[in-house]
Amino acid sequence: MTSSGAGVAWYDRNAPGLADQYEGADFETVHGWLLPLLDGSTDGPVLDIGAGSGRDAAWFAARGYFVVAVEPAANLRAEARARHPEPSIAWLDDRLPELEAVTARGQTFSLILVSAVWMHVLPVERERAFETLVSLLRPGGLLAVTLRLGEPDAERGMTEVTNEELVALGAAYGLELVHNGVSADALGRPEVAWGEVALRKPA
Ligand SMILES: C[S@@+](CC[C@H](N)C(=O)[O-])C[C@H]1O[C@@H](n2cnc3c(N)ncnc32)[C@H](O)[C@@H]1O
Repeated sequence: MTSSGAGVAWYDRNAPGLADQYEGADFETVHGWLLPLLDGSTDGPVLDIGAGSGRDAAWFAARGYFVVAVEPAANLRAEARARHPEPSIAWLDDRLPELEAVTARGQTFSLILVSAVWMHVLPVERERAFETLVSLLRPGGLLAVTLRLGEPDAERGMTEVTNEELVALGAAYGLELVHNGVSADALGRPEVAWGEVALRKPA
């Protein structure tokens, strides 16, 4: 099993409790850093990868965006779909690094959100995953990634992530770095902090 596979199985087993937990934090608290970066060049569609409970997808949908929400854990996806049945959210069973179902749609996105997911992508698969993300981003579009910093939870198939890795991948693929920060955990866990990296594809 890949580390991502182990992670997905864990999210499947714990889906209802996790969905409650994720819905307990609001978008503005978790992603407040992203708000000033949303403008005419990020008017949708939005791709939310590893969308979890659908909290973030629903925030965008409520503001008129069309959202493709990707969630590989079937039980979590069912929870999310039940909580957020909005027709402007398309729920897909798919995963990094390939995102085969998303790619098969032939659609590109002005905003791609990868929130608390990168630690589930095996280090050896990360360049391929990044290449996939860049291919799905429109010219001028924004890739926003949050990174779970701190000790990785092996039971959940996590491995270490850093802002520097994303910054370096962005530079290698010709993306402009527009945000590079770190914030405290919105759910109050002292052992966890969050890296925030936003990269823009040249127009
Ligand atoms: C910590 S949760 C984050 C959920 C949501 N993005 C949020 O910020 O609340 C991690 C999510 O990533 C999903 N996931 C795990 N491996 C993945 C992969 N390879 N591709 C896409 N999503 C993945 C899990 O199923 C889970 O829903």
